[in-house]
Amino acid sequence: MSAASYLAEGSHVALRRISRRDRTEFVTLNRESAELLSPWMPGKSITTPEAFDAYVERFDGPAHEGFVICRLDTGAIAGRANINNIVRGTHQAGTLGYCAYASTTGRGYMTEGLRLLVQYAFGELRLHRLEANIQPANAPSLNLIKRVGFQREGYSPNFQFINGAWRDHERWAITVEMV
Ligand SMILES: CC(C)(COP(=O)(O)OP(=O)(O)OC[C@H]1O[C@@H](n2cnc3c(N)ncnc32)[C@H](O)[C@@H]1OP(=O)(O)O)[C@@H](O)C(=O)NCCC(=O)NCCS
Repeated sequence: MSAASYLAEGSHVALRRISRRDRTEFVTLNRESAELLSPWMPGKSITTPEAFDAYVERFDGPAHEGFVICRLDTGAIAGRANINNIVRGTHQAGTLGYCAYASTTGRGYMTEGLRLLVQYAFGELRLHRLEANIQPANAPSLNLIKRVGFQREGYSPNFQFINGAWRDHERWAITVEMV
């Protein structure tokens, strides 16, 4: 997709909304990354065109926003990030979900991409708080969210059903006052 669709650019990656045109690239990345993603990501794996269509459909309404983080040099997708369960009114809050892929992880793309997303969420989307829930054993995700500026708020036992069991999660959050 063209650079014109970017919402924000950093030095190595850019942020844009996910598009139905991402189907083939997205499914290929998710197929090659099944081992990386399955212990940590909730929901069905997005490894078929049908699963992709169901995934993007959720972003048609106002409660979920879906993004991809793209390499600036090639335009290729390096990661995905969603803001889910957006509550407006006196909360202006949403829950962040994200992943990199087997071929893109460990290069700093997600750190830069999530920083762009936080700025976008607190700017154009007028959110006040973003939350991220992370399993205690997911060290790469904990490292990432700390680098992006989130603070640990608490611990939620049996928080979410992932990979066949109810998993404890740490609750991390950032508010607009913290950036
Ligand atoms: C969680 C996850 C997104 C973290 O991604 P990541 O690749 O570690 O994050 P980045 O892209 O920002 O890369 C940063 C890492 O690359 C390293 N790195 C290597 N070269 C780098 C460079 N040129 N610039 C910056 N960082 C670089 C950093 O040191 C850092 O590693 P560290 O945390 O061990 O210090 C990824 O591991 C993932 O997708 N996991 C599976 C799904 C998942 O857990 N999702 C979250 C559920 S809560």
